[in-house]
Amino acid sequence: MNIVPLAVAPMMDWTDRHCRYFHRLLAPSAVLYTEMVTAAALVHGDAGRLLAFNTEEHPVVLQVGGSEPELMRTAAKLAEQAGYDAVNINIGCPSDRVQKGAFGACLMAEPDTVSQCWQAMAEAVSIPVTVKSRIGIDDRDDAAFLDAFVDAVAGAGCTHFDIHARIAILAGLSPKQNREVPPLIYDAVYRQKQRRPDLTVFINGGIVDADAAAAHLQHVDGVMIGRAAYQDPWSLVAFEQLANPDYTPPARAAVVHEMADYVERALGQGASLKHVTRHMLGLFNGLPGARAWRRTLSERAHLDGVGPELLLAALEPLESVAA
Ligand SMILES: Cc1cc2nc3c(=O)[nH]c(=O)nc-3n(C[C@H](O)[C@H](O)[C@H](O)COP(=O)(O)O)c2cc1C
Repeated sequence: MNIVPLAVAPMMDWTDRHCRYFHRLLAPSAVLYTEMVTAAALVHGDAGRLLAFNTEEHPVVLQVGGSEPELMRTAAKLAEQAGYDAVNINIGCPSDRVQKGAFGACLMAEPDTVSQCWQAMAEAVSIPVTVKSRIGIDDRDDAAFLDAFVDAVAGAGCTHFDIHARIAILAGLSPKQNREVPPLIYDAVYRQKQRRPDLTVFINGGIVDADAAAAHLQHVDGVMIGRAAYQDPWSLVAFEQLANPDYTPPARAAVVHEMADYVERALGQGASLKHVTRHMLGLFNGLPGARAWRRTLSERAHLDGVGPELLLAALEPLESVAA
């Protein structure tokens, strides 16, 4: 199978369907991940709403959180029926352990549970079932811990691991601090690929430019980009060029026009303008006029009666740099 070496990370509140549509315009081949959805929410809640996406988003991966094999199996089936290209299990989120419905990084200490979930899901669907984890949790930051986790889950049959190259600290740090405080240890991720060349390993954490991504690709199969892609969306163009050297990026103005057309359709389906434009605030980062762009969108997108023309109005003073 031909692996695209670029993915945009799952990010709650950020990588919703509007965001993914926008990212797709900048990075045509990147694999786009959804926000995490819990298996319980999918099974007991409004799955149709939680799973809806635009066909342009392919390849798109649904990320699911949970630890109960039967719920995870049903969630995987729903993902496949909805047309997702793969389903990914969240073993990286530093949520507190709760009695039922545990998910996230705490499950690194329960590789058997993860294996059971993986098996239940993989039996039920023909799309790939993958795992996103950290390199350890709390005081388990040693090589043996991560090796044992990967080997156990790979033993169940999982062949694709996205690994955020820092441990998660389960008590005492907020999720945000857990993305900043524990140090990045890229070697721990590289080692998994060295040990297990049979597995597909994507590295995640702190990758902010294409040079860094290229260096990682010497050691692993792919890079997964989180905050850099969201906060500086144009950085996706350079990541895409790395993954796909023939890529000719669009002009920023063309992206804005496509997003205006998208807004028109999305408003017709009940979305609100600000839910789309909030993902686009960073599009002109680093260029003259970036602040005015950001201000126009933030101050006016929520006003009654405002539609796609806001994007075109905000673009006007930027036409010379956006071409
Ligand atoms: C706002 C936000 C929400 C996140 N939500 C999720 C999530 O739902 N599932 C997940 O596995 N990771 C989540 N993450 C972690 C990212 O996927 C990624 O692992 C992390 O940000 C490190 O990558 P980066 O340094 O490239 O941002 C989130 C990160 C951010 C900033």
